[in-house]
Amino acid sequence: MGETLSIMGEVARKAGGMQMARLCDAHSIEYKGVINLVTEVDRACEKYIVGELSRRIPGCEFLAEEGTAAPEGSASRSAGDAPKPRFIVDPLDGTVNYAHGFPFFCVSIALEERGELTAGVIFDPNRNELFEAKKGGGAFMNGSPISVSNAGSLRKSLLATGFAYNVQEGEALDNLDNFCAFIKRARAVRRPGSAAIDLAWVACGRIDGFWELFLKPWDMAAGVAIIREAGGMVTSFDGGPYNLYGTEILASNGAIHREMIGVLGGREGGKAT
Ligand code: IPD
Ligand code: CA
Ligand code: CA
Repeated sequence: MGETLSIMGEVARKAGGMQMARLCDAHSIEYKGVINLVTEVDRACEKYIVGELSRRIPGCEFLAEEGTAAPEGSASRSAGDAPKPRFIVDPLDGTVNYAHGFPFFCVSIALEERGELTAGVIFDPNRNELFEAKKGGGAFMNGSPISVSNAGSLRKSLLATGFAYNVQEGEALDNLDNFCAFIKRARAVRRPGSAAIDLAWVACGRIDGFWELFLKPWDMAAGVAIIREAGGMVTSFDGGPYNLYGTEILASNGAIHREMIGVLGGREGGKAT
């Protein structure tokens, strides 16, 4: 696993380098929705990540945001009925930021084995920060151990969240009520625009708590693996078990978790009913 994690980190760093090298280019922007963008750099990074991981760690499958599949034959090595290890890849988390030159975006790669998250790396190329963790091995940033904060109350906490791309489409669960509720209770609430970095920052204590609705597995997987190893807590809004393929995530340093559940409590998807 040590070698796998270091390959994941190396590949994430290289993809982050591609993002920085092309940041000032005029991007070719395609629309997956009204405000859901994809650039040529998202696709190029994903192609590189999937190709390189398939070559260096054969026998794995991929769940990658832009749909890049493992090259023919490279995912066929696993024996028996055991599901193959699967990399969960967000090649560029924070695409809207990237398209605007707003320096808050990253590469996120997780490894899922037998339905369990066993490793994650997040590389933030603007700050040259590589966050990484493997199950049972602790969490690190650029090789130094990290841990969640010790903030003990919402009043002393900095929180972060985000909004799904359908926020303008009149969805009943738009997270705006939750945002209003937390902004009145916490020291401050941020909406930086890269869920993966938000989660990495919960892991290293820069952010005390994070919640969001309708994220995809590739937005969350690596961050969840890293937060767990950094001593944090990840659940659904009501404190129940976290589901990577579900619709909500609540992540914190653990100490403010109950208070965050209280703010989200009695609300369907966090929204007052
Ligand atoms: C988005 C970012 C953002 C979150 C959105 C995600 P993308 O990912 O993580 O912070 O609020 O819900 O879709 O599209 O930039 O990879
Ligand atoms: Ca994303
Ligand atoms: Ca993305």
